[in-house]
Amino acid sequence: MTMILEGVEDRPFIPTEYVVRLARTPWERAGYHALRHEVFCTEQHVFADDDRDAIDATSIPIIAACCMAGMPDRIVGAVRIHEAEPGVWRGSRLAVHEDHRRLGRIGAELIRMAVSTAHGLGARRFLAQVQEQNVLFFRRLHWKSLGALTLHGLPHHDMQADLSRYPAHGLDQTWLLRPQPRNRQVA
Ligand SMILES: CC(C)(COP(=O)(O)OP(=O)(O)OC[C@H]1O[C@@H](n2cnc3c(N)ncnc32)[C@H](O)[C@@H]1OP(=O)(O)O)[C@@H](O)C(=O)NCCC(=O)NCCS
Repeated sequence: MTMILEGVEDRPFIPTEYVVRLARTPWERAGYHALRHEVFCTEQHVFADDDRDAIDATSIPIIAACCMAGMPDRIVGAVRIHEAEPGVWRGSRLAVHEDHRRLGRIGAELIRMAVSTAHGLGARRFLAQVQEQNVLFFRRLHWKSLGALTLHGLPHHDMQADLSRYPAHGLDQTWLLRPQPRNRQVA
């Protein structure tokens, strides 16, 4: 028995199911704001105490949750979208919990949900102000830079999504992701 369990206790739990969807319930919205606070205030210090702003009143929040036994268990991803002017939509506050980054393409799927949802709501352009260290990530997802700028004292790029790569949809929820961890050790 001891031999069978050897090493199992040290193996990290790695979720295999995620759901990405529009945040509608109080639990989803609370997790969405908690994650934003954790990433943009505590981790990145972009904001001192509170990252909320006037856009929160009109934006659509989107979350990623990891699932246990098929049920959303913890909010681990966030992004919001809003129509800044007729036909022009913007995404902001993209965040993935650090334990879930580069694991299951959660960030990429949040972007897909954000842009395709806006496209379905009539977006003719979709823009975001992207932190410099993430420009390559967005380029690989079919975004182009419109130029550099400084925001909150940090280097950013104004970027635009290629909408032809993000077909319009009106889905509330996209598929459950099943990441294939690259560093997983088999017991
Ligand atoms: C940026 C962020 C959202 C990316 O989320 P993520 O879930 O780790 O990204 P994904 O797993 O979907 O990445 C998809 C691919 O892009 C790569 N990638 C991820 N971040 C990258 C980066 N900054 N630069 C280049 N490539 C990157 C991944 O390795 C992966 O590559 P693969 O398809 O070859 O495996 C996440 O790192 C984060 O929350 N950072 C802190 C907050 C932040 O910077 N927000 C964005 C403000 S503009």
